[in-house]
Amino acid sequence: MTLPKRVFSGARPSGRQHLGNYMGAIRNYVALQEEFDECLYCAVDVHALTTMTSKEETGEIQQNIREMVLDWLAAGLNPEKSIIFVQSHVPEVMTLHTLLSMVTPMGWLMRVPTFKDKVRQMEATDESVPYGLVGYPVLMTADIILYKAEVVPVGEDQLPHLELSREIVRRFNNLFGPVFPEPQARLTESPMILGTDGQAKMSKTMNNHIELAATEDETAAKVKTMVTDPQRARRTDPGRPWVCNVYKLHHWFNPDKLDEVYRECTAAGIGCVDDKKLLAEGVNTYFSEFRERRREFASRDGYVEEVLLDGANRAGAIAKETIREVEESMGLRLKAR
Ligand code: AMP
Ligand code: TRP
Repeated sequence: MTLPKRVFSGARPSGRQHLGNYMGAIRNYVALQEEFDECLYCAVDVHALTTMTSKEETGEIQQNIREMVLDWLAAGLNPEKSIIFVQSHVPEVMTLHTLLSMVTPMGWLMRVPTFKDKVRQMEATDESVPYGLVGYPVLMTADIILYKAEVVPVGEDQLPHLELSREIVRRFNNLFGPVFPEPQARLTESPMILGTDGQAKMSKTMNNHIELAATEDETAAKVKTMVTDPQRARRTDPGRPWVCNVYKLHHWFNPDKLDEVYRECTAAGIGCVDDKKLLAEGVNTYFSEFRERRREFASRDGYVEEVLLDGANRAGAIAKETIREVEESMGLRLKAR
């Protein structure tokens, strides 16, 4: 039986998605379609603008949306069940963002850990940081509650944002009445995947990522660069799988070979080169049907555009209802009788 609650998640259109996106978020987007009646998945293009500083970057948005949506469809998002759309195609979200910004204290926004990281990444200062970047979590809250969503599948890095979303909702409801439910994060069993460097979270910006849609050879080449146990200098040294990110990924891509790899690695029976070959094979097998489906969707002329247009229409209808209710509760229009 499916539950009446709504699910919402968004991701910045960063182009082809990587193993971190899939293991941390996308596989839950897919799974939740079975558990809940209504799921909305959104390419948040306006969020992408918060850190963009050039026309070269914004020129890639359309292509990046397409690549990301192709990954979502290939992973199993079903546009007949789920509403798949682009944030700016439902402009009501900007109205809600402005209205929520009236009840969100600056202090809450300045304390968000990802805010400080992004300011640093952009090499901005308190003086030069764009106003839109400060409001990033307010826009994210607007995304979710415009649809009164309660379940939000995301990776671990998004938890501070969701905490803030709940605070904004509580504040709004206290001031203007119980309009919104409080959204809760839904994590996967692997809410934080490390990159090929074995140090930082896998991300495109760090270029430590492995794309789902990569070819088998590209995958093998990328896996080959992965950092393993730094203390294992020679092939004959025993390895320590518990500190090795290649071993961690075997949990997901070679679950039936875990014991064997552990034994062989700690006994120096297998070297890192062979171990990585095994991982690349595991990843390639895991995503082989995904890659086939992706090619098929990509070859259908106008298909992605059609999915997104339908999604925007369905999302827009819900959004208009919420905005009416919000404006009434905030005294911006007479209550409908
Ligand atoms: P982003 O590409 O940063 O917009 O992220 C899209 C979704 O993937 C969000 O729900 C993130 O939390 C999730 N995600 C991104 N990178 C990782 C990672 N390395 N491990 C787990 N989840 C991730
Ligand atoms: N902040 C999220 C990220 O960087 C993207 C996002 C925007 C989002 N709006 C959202 C995620 C609403 C979940 C719900 O990945």
